[in-house]
Amino acid sequence: MIPIVKVAMPPKSALMPALETVLYSGMIAEGESVYQFEAEFNRKFGLEHSLAMSSGTGALHAALTLAGVGPGDEVISTPMTAEPTNTSILYNGAKVVWADVDPASGNMCPDSVRQRITSRTKAILCVHYAGYPARLAELKRIADEYGVALIEDCAHALGASYQNRPIGTIGHYGIYSFQAIKHMTTVDGGLLTFADVSQTEAAKKFRWFGMLKGVPRTEVDITSVGYKYNMNNVNATIGLVQLQNISAILDRHVENGRFFDAELSSISGIDFARCDTDAVPSYWIYTLLCDDSHSVEKALNSAGISASKLHRPNSLHSIFADSRCDLPGLDTFYTRLLHIPCGWWVSDEDRARIVDVIRKG
Ligand SMILES: Cc1ncc(COP(=O)(O)O)c(C=O)c1O
Repeated sequence: MIPIVKVAMPPKSALMPALETVLYSGMIAEGESVYQFEAEFNRKFGLEHSLAMSSGTGALHAALTLAGVGPGDEVISTPMTAEPTNTSILYNGAKVVWADVDPASGNMCPDSVRQRITSRTKAILCVHYAGYPARLAELKRIADEYGVALIEDCAHALGASYQNRPIGTIGHYGIYSFQAIKHMTTVDGGLLTFADVSQTEAAKKFRWFGMLKGVPRTEVDITSVGYKYNMNNVNATIGLVQLQNISAILDRHVENGRFFDAELSSISGIDFARCDTDAVPSYWIYTLLCDDSHSVEKALNSAGISASKLHRPNSLHSIFADSRCDLPGLDTFYTRLLHIPCGWWVSDEDRARIVDVIRKG
């Protein structure tokens, strides 16, 4: 079976010596490797102020808190995502308000966001779903117009860009995930990036029990709630080794994605996700839109190619019952949706076979 997602580990010869060194260094908690990883990640992906975290979910919780989201506030979000995007909003006691999604991309629809803004809206949380950038220019315009924060969930979209800028740098906050099956994994981990450098101290305190590293424990006075969300040196070491090879991995996702864009455009009953013309997706998984997604899924699975919808619209979960509303764009998108593999493990022969099965099926 060609899987839809796959763990990418660096070669043993590069990873194991680095891991052995850190594991027996006597310094395995947050320390120099974490700060080096932050600096290297910033350099590689064009970010400025970033903190490495224990997960993308922790980074989302931090972004929402730094944006001032609290009980009684509303956060406009997308139902077409992995659940942590939205459960994190509940951590702060805020209400999830669904924006409808654009049936052509699965991403949050800016017109719908505009319709959902109220005096209680504190933030807009967009996801670059499956690696395809959301309509950031329009979302940022709305956020600025209403004085609310724009948070970019970039968990699926490492390496993607919008108007020649790295995703994660257009909103006020961006988050990344280095969980097992993302473009890049540190086994588990995440990263928060933020535009306002004056929030650095608050972000660091949030990530580690409400304290700053380096301040003597006997003298510290905790004044705000913090969590155990920091990355440790072991995960950061894996991240540092991953960064040496990440460009090749990302390039192959994009190459495969563009191959499918070109090959599938002429097949009747089949379309694929589209985003703004000045957006460059990083194709974590490839998003097909089919007149009959069920049949195409069956044909691919029978040919040994994993294909599925992968996620459940979050609006269907009971925990979000208070947020229910009509989402016709989501209904259309989800009915037509089918994800197929397009990552670094998909060879030239694999991708030709995938197109062949779709064409015949
Ligand atoms: C869109 C999205 N946001 C957030 C997360 C949370 O990331 P993590 O698993 O690193 O907490 C994930 C992945 O699980 C995700 O797919």
